[in-house]
Amino acid sequence: TEQQHLEAFEARIQRGEKIEAGDWMPDEYRRQLIRMISQHAHSEYVGMLPEGAWITRAPSLKRKMILIAKVQDEAGHGQYLYHAAETLGATREEMNDALLSGRAKYSSIFNYPSLTWADVGMIGWLVDGAAIKNQTMLAGCSYGPYSRAMVRICSEETFHHKQGKEMVIQYARGSEKQRQMAQDALNRWWWPSLMMLGPHDADSPNSGVLSRWGVKLKSNDEVRQEFINEHVPELLEAGLTIPDPDLHQDESGNWIHGPIDWNEFWNVVKGNGPLNKERLGARQKAHDEGAWVREAMQAYAERQLAQAAD
Ligand code: 3HC
Repeated sequence: TEQQHLEAFEARIQRGEKIEAGDWMPDEYRRQLIRMISQHAHSEYVGMLPEGAWITRAPSLKRKMILIAKVQDEAGHGQYLYHAAETLGATREEMNDALLSGRAKYSSIFNYPSLTWADVGMIGWLVDGAAIKNQTMLAGCSYGPYSRAMVRICSEETFHHKQGKEMVIQYARGSEKQRQMAQDALNRWWWPSLMMLGPHDADSPNSGVLSRWGVKLKSNDEVRQEFINEHVPELLEAGLTIPDPDLHQDESGNWIHGPIDWNEFWNVVKGNGPLNKERLGARQKAHDEGAWVREAMQAYAERQLAQAAD
């Protein structure tokens, strides 16, 4: 019966077993994973835009080469994740349509503009830093294809993180102009990076079932705390000021941040972010301009089939 299947499934989760694509799973487990993995993939896909805008304007060949490699990695991460979602029965067409129609979400962080070159470094340090905390947690999740995708993605993210940190520290210790640019970037990316890790646990409707079924091994607030505890000392060490007057360390060593503006967060998540129209417009344009490739591949495949049938 359904109940027996559910009990056996939950016993597998308790034993720390990986659930694979062909295994029995509750419909809600499948729905949650398609939601989460496809939106993760959308985030990687849209995430190429803020940095991609700077590839043609990188200050040196070295920085240009690093940025090209990073943006290319994000495209690959999107591919792994769309494939992982397909193992659960989602199709590319459905997922792409959900993104372009605004029905699906992508990470709030990519609705913010990358205004100067220093933003590229700050995105690498903070955004990839937050993504690494979240993705390292997900690398242990109960769904096999997702956890294996995370292991591969995390190894590439560490390069993204290191190159961003190295860049910002160099600017923070550089000329006055460079230091101002690094501080300006921190002022604009600090709070969106905290929000990227999701609402507070009390306001996180999906977290209950996701933690019960071994998908989220840590809560939104736990991952956010890990991110803050690692990055605050290093940003201060670089001589930068964290734009949070309430930030302080408690007796257990945790850095405690001031109130997060969740109105801004939900406004962005609802599609009113500063650049939401541009981001989806750019993805729609890329989709339209890629139509000829899809049609050509379709025609080629049909001709191959017809020849094989002869
Ligand atoms: N941006 C947009 N929407 C968000 C969000 C964010 N930062 N945080 C939460 N939300 C949405 C959720 O999707 C959910 O809406 P939905 O039910 O319609 O999907 C709603 O807000 C309530 O939030 P919950 O906390 O209940 O949602 P989750 O339990 O799914 O937790 C999450 C949110 C922590 C982002 C989780 O979905 C997750 O871990 N996702 C996988 C990781 C991911 O998507 N990372 C994106 C980072 S970008 C990146 O990696 C690129 C980098 O390499 C540069």
